Amino acid sequence: MTYRIAVLPGDGIGPEVTREAVRVLEAVGAAAGIRFEFAEAPVGGAAVDATGDPFPPETEQLCMAADAILLGAVGGPRWDREPVPRRPESGLLRLRKAVGAYANLRPVRVHPALAGRGPLRPEVVGGGVDILIVRELTGGLYYGERGVQQEPFGERAYDTMVYTTPEIERIVRMAFQLARGRRRRVISVDKSNVLETSRLWRRVTEAVAEDFPDVELEHMLVDNAAMQLVRNPQRFDVLVTENTFGDILSDLGAALAGSLGLLPSASLGLPGRPPLFEPVHGSAPDIAGRGIANPLGAIASAAMMLRHAFGLQREAQAVEEAIDDLLAAGPWTPDIAPPGAPVASTEDVGRAIARRVRERLAPGP
Ligand code: NAD
Ligand code: IPM
Ligand code: MN
Repeated sequence: MTYRIAVLPGDGIGPEVTREAVRVLEAVGAAAGIRFEFAEAPVGGAAVDATGDPFPPETEQLCMAADAILLGAVGGPRWDREPVPRRPESGLLRLRKAVGAYANLRPVRVHPALAGRGPLRPEVVGGGVDILIVRELTGGLYYGERGVQQEPFGERAYDTMVYTTPEIERIVRMAFQLARGRRRRVISVDKSNVLETSRLWRRVTEAVAEDFPDVELEHMLVDNAAMQLVRNPQRFDVLVTENTFGDILSDLGAALAGSLGLLPSASLGLPGRPPLFEPVHGSAPDIAGRGIANPLGAIASAAMMLRHAFGLQREAQAVEEAIDDLLAAGPWTPDIAPPGAPVASTEDVGRAIARRVRERLAPGP
């Protein structure tokens, strides 16, 4: 059996972290006797530069023929003034839509070794924060009608947020199902005191909850949710929300974990379409090209690929345990290095994970 992986490194630190994720997958393959076939294609700004299109047809074909997609990050100041069809982010949105990846799983865990190293006190983030953010990914503001017009007084711009019952139902149902494998608590985050889409979201969520009497449901307004995540993150198990709120709250989750460079994601969706795996962070123009980006979010995304796309539980666990070991013992990239500790490069970390994975998966004596 060969697993075909489309690799889309993208821009900025995208190629730097993706290289390390591929290194780790190669180590898994070699140690566990699994064949991974990697094929690379441009996306985002890199694709704009090469073809004028941030999601060219050749990239789409490669993705559609793959069993899973690994993406780095897209975007950067160079392309920020491009018209919408040539913006790197447009390419990512088209990719997500093309593969029907409506369910974006963004786990946020606080490793004990990092509790207190981020901006929050250890007593807030210690004690095992373990949140699964389930973000709707192919609807809402990102895909609504938008435009900008000239008016006598200046310009008028608009974006629209649209959700339908089926779109809400499938993502909420997935959140409840995932909660059954965890602590059986779902917090649904919305803005139903203002938004019509949120009121529909709440009605549909209530209806879905009837099929899951064993799972506890709580509704929370998004402004309060942002505050509760910082104040009492232990309270959250599965957090399900619409596209924009999920984008914002997951970066907030990164501050709990200690670095945006740590968070992975899996985007699952329509049957028969390849799932997409990408770190939560962006192209980080401020550190790109220096070899110091944290590759653990990309590597953990590769672990999610092993589990969710290929059902390779043992191998996924080996990668995740290697990450846990490394967070405790180093080497660390500058974003998570303890004060006074030597800092490692992106490649040092990738190699250290690959070595640990080989040890864990090597056949016993
Ligand atoms: P960003 O996520 O790129 O960076 C935010 C901050 O986190 C920066 O200080 C950066 O240095 C740091 N950071 C991010 N990843 C890191 C890593 N792996 N290791 C260490 N530090 C890391 O967000 P931004 O600066 O707001 O956006 C930059 C560009 O990335 C924009 O063009 C944006 O559209 C794009 N973006 C893309 C994605 C994606 O491809 N999925 C996600 C977010 C942002
Ligand atoms: C993310 C990013 C993207 C998003 C951008 C680059 C379109 O911020 O993956 O979180 O908003 O979904
Ligand atoms: Mn984001």
